[in-house]
Amino acid sequence: MEASQSTKLEEILITNEQINKAIIKAAEWIDETYKKIEGPIVLIGLLKGCIPFLGQLLTKIKRDVILDFMVVSSFKGSHKRKSDPVIVTDIISNIENMHILFIEDIIDSGLTIQYTMNKVFEKNPASMKLISLLDKPSGRVNNFNADYVCFEIEDKFVVGFGLDYKEMFRNYDSVAVLSKKYID
Ligand code: IMP
Ligand code: MG
Repeated sequence: MEASQSTKLEEILITNEQINKAIIKAAEWIDETYKKIEGPIVLIGLLKGCIPFLGQLLTKIKRDVILDFMVVSSFKGSHKRKSDPVIVTDIISNIENMHILFIEDIIDSGLTIQYTMNKVFEKNPASMKLISLLDKPSGRVNNFNADYVCFEIEDKFVVGFGLDYKEMFRNYDSVAVLSKKYID
């Protein structure tokens, strides 16, 4: 990230060290939650925000997993919602009777993940759960709840560790609040 970019950040909300610790706990939760399930579970990462979270989580999980990805667009490159969610890229695995764990960067209104899970449910998985790095419960417009959340945050626009503003900041190693004056 260029120096001029970091001046746009108001405050570091969650440090890289805090994230690393939380991911170890999250992986333990996954191993514990699925300990009675034989065979691999399917991790479905929601691109692109899931990349650092999923990448790090993956190496800490001890059980067998299969990896798959979806691109579901609802933000169109801005922080403002401009359309209903659209599945841009679907999974390639056959997930019938498989146990699915979605990996998200953040749940805000809950609309994107609810839409995604409704669509994937049509493929007859054995179960579906969701783990998210961040959760903004105050933004929720439905009654959707994640099964596991690493950090609950206030209703502020955050970037870093996968989260973007207009595709920037994904490579920042902590979660920071973007100054309002840079958001249009
Ligand atoms: P939802 O449909 O409102 O729950 O939005 C979920 C998606 O919006 C996330 O997967 C992010 O891509 C994006 N999003 C929501 N809040 C933020 C934020 O504070 N920073 C960056 N992206 C966000
Ligand atoms: Mg996302």
